[in-house]
Amino acid sequence: MSEVFDEYAQYYDALYADKNYGEEARYLDALINQHSIIPVPSVLEFGAGSGKLQLALLGLGYDVTSVDLSPRMVAQAGKLGAKVEQGDIRDHQLEQKFDAVVAFFHVISYLTTDEDLEKGISNALSHLKPGGVFIFDVWFKDAVLAQKPEVRIKRVAHEGTEIVRIAEPSWDKGKDTVEVSYQLFVKRPGQESFGSFSEQHLLRYFSKNQVLRLSAQHDVALVAMEETITREDPDSQTWGVTVVLLAIPQQPLAQKRSLARSPERKNFTIEEN
Ligand SMILES: C[S@@+](CC[C@H](N)C(=O)[O-])C[C@H]1O[C@@H](n2cnc3c(N)ncnc32)[C@H](O)[C@@H]1O
Repeated sequence: MSEVFDEYAQYYDALYADKNYGEEARYLDALINQHSIIPVPSVLEFGAGSGKLQLALLGLGYDVTSVDLSPRMVAQAGKLGAKVEQGDIRDHQLEQKFDAVVAFFHVISYLTTDEDLEKGISNALSHLKPGGVFIFDVWFKDAVLAQKPEVRIKRVAHEGTEIVRIAEPSWDKGKDTVEVSYQLFVKRPGQESFGSFSEQHLLRYFSKNQVLRLSAQHDVALVAMEETITREDPDSQTWGVTVVLLAIPQQPLAQKRSLARSPERKNFTIEEN
């Protein structure tokens, strides 16, 4: 996976300059408040990219630790003032447990085999305290089947640099994956012509049943699966879905009740004992 987010990393923020990380952080904050049954000062962020979500979460008062595989993304994060550790979410170990784990903007979709997915999910949950939540977003199968991956062209001009990105998908329906071949044409200030490079990104999409099966394999409850930001029920128009897994607490009920923060949280019941 070392070739992913390599040369592409230096153009990442220009390509996603329109992305509203403040809104995403507030959305994650709302999900944490609704679904976590423990207080959440500390957040582990998987796949932090250039660190913009980390900075937005810090702004909301969270204590954030972030990890990303790509050394060039980590370097980019450093330039923006974010602190991101270089590591692979499939096996990176931190000597600490966190109140919440987040992996946002399709990070889990980059775990394309069952084995890698299992490693990434297990590693996230091994860093999560009981009663805390693991929140991630992925491509949603219903939308991929209905809309079908297609060639897309994106043009941006950012701080004098012109970028044209052609994204050409190659769909493997048997594996529920799409390999996106990105070709970037870049003209920096002062240059007369465009240079180009390409990068292949393999991404996996998930159905609701796949997410249910995944959650059934771990000590978690699937407490939400909804359209990212709008919070609507996902349908064939919903390319990005957000999943919230609650790490089922093992403590006695009285302690759990005293930790509860959100009376209106959905789909999770604690049995009387
Ligand atoms: C689409 S970017 C999202 C970045 C960031 N979360 C954001 O919202 O801008 C996906 C990120 O996941 C990282 N990533 C992919 N696979 C990874 C892995 N196995 N371990 C750690 N990071 C990974 C990539 O390096 C990349 O920065």
